[in-house]
Amino acid sequence: MRTRLTELFGLRYPIVSAPMVFQSGGDLAGAVSKAGGLGSFGAVAPKPGAITLSYIADNLARVRQTTDKPFGIGFITPFIGANRPNFDYVLSEDVPVIMLSFGDPRPWISLAKARGRAVLCQVQTMEEARIAVGEGADGITVQGEASGGHCGERSLLPFLAEAADAFPQTPVMAAGGLGDGRTLAAVLAAGASGAWIGTAFRAVTECAETPEEDRQAILRSDGRDTVRSSVVDIVNHGACGGLVWPGGIAMRTQINPLLERWHGDEDSLAAAVTAAPEDFADLWDNPAAPNYPRLFGEAAQFVSQIETAEDFIRRITDEAEHLLARWNGAADRG
Ligand SMILES: Cc1cc2nc3c(=O)[nH]c(=O)nc-3n(C[C@H](O)[C@H](O)[C@H](O)COP(=O)(O)O)c2cc1C
Repeated sequence: MRTRLTELFGLRYPIVSAPMVFQSGGDLAGAVSKAGGLGSFGAVAPKPGAITLSYIADNLARVRQTTDKPFGIGFITPFIGANRPNFDYVLSEDVPVIMLSFGDPRPWISLAKARGRAVLCQVQTMEEARIAVGEGADGITVQGEASGGHCGERSLLPFLAEAADAFPQTPVMAAGGLGDGRTLAAVLAAGASGAWIGTAFRAVTECAETPEEDRQAILRSDGRDTVRSSVVDIVNHGACGGLVWPGGIAMRTQINPLLERWHGDEDSLAAAVTAAPEDFADLWDNPAAPNYPRLFGEAAQFVSQIETAEDFIRRITDEAEHLLARWNGAADRG
């Protein structure tokens, strides 16, 4: 499969594994890149200092032990300032691709470009897309609201079509709700240069960071038991030292008792957290706890087996290739 994305980085497959902070480490990134996609891991968390330089160095070493192919390291753009040493450290290392997401990518794109790095920007609005392309991003990823984890408000296909029309010279990738050959074929047919996938990669063998409880929840989920909400971010900020996310961004997680109680009643939640932060401070302590946030999206509907990253990538790209080859403009006739 050849697309602008595969040509840009010499990839075999138009597949990117999303940087998922604390969820995608060097083992997954290395496995994806070795298999012919573009692997990545996340190096900035909402809590300042939570990702240390030694964490980054350890995960970089894991990638390098696995492959010499290109890979990326991802940053949540609005939190780079509060975690600046992480960004500077990554730029000082030989990291081929810098990934930026959620908000205005200035001045980080030009700092990375000045060091000769390729930059991919995941965007949630057309305005961010225009800034990213104008600043010289090598590619953009339009993210739809079915995504696991944090995402914006737009539906993927209209957003993708708009961006593909607006930036005909730029590789545009698609993220959010992709996880099988049909959804991959759909976004390629709609103008995408590749798929940027998070949820489905959380279930693969090499995603060592995924707690077993999350993996099982993803396997069981049909994708409809998730909700895009600010509840977890309110608790994170008020009780767990997390920074405030930009407007328009919320987090898609599996619905749990915390979400059932507070989603739609966020003002009361904010007041409750301010009044007694200690009641909420253990949110992330125990992956087996009922209120532990399980970040995944609607693409969980496609996850029904645990396989290696390579098998997953091959399976969905083979299926997409097959579908696109036999498609004659009347797919509903089979
Ligand atoms: C567990 C999890 C953590 C995530 N963390 C990050 C992150 O740190 N930085 C980022 O740019 N995107 C993050 N994302 C969003 C992904 O980049 C991507 O947009 C999303 O996973 C795509 O949708 P999908 O989950 O349906 O594949 C995260 C997603 C998940 C599921």
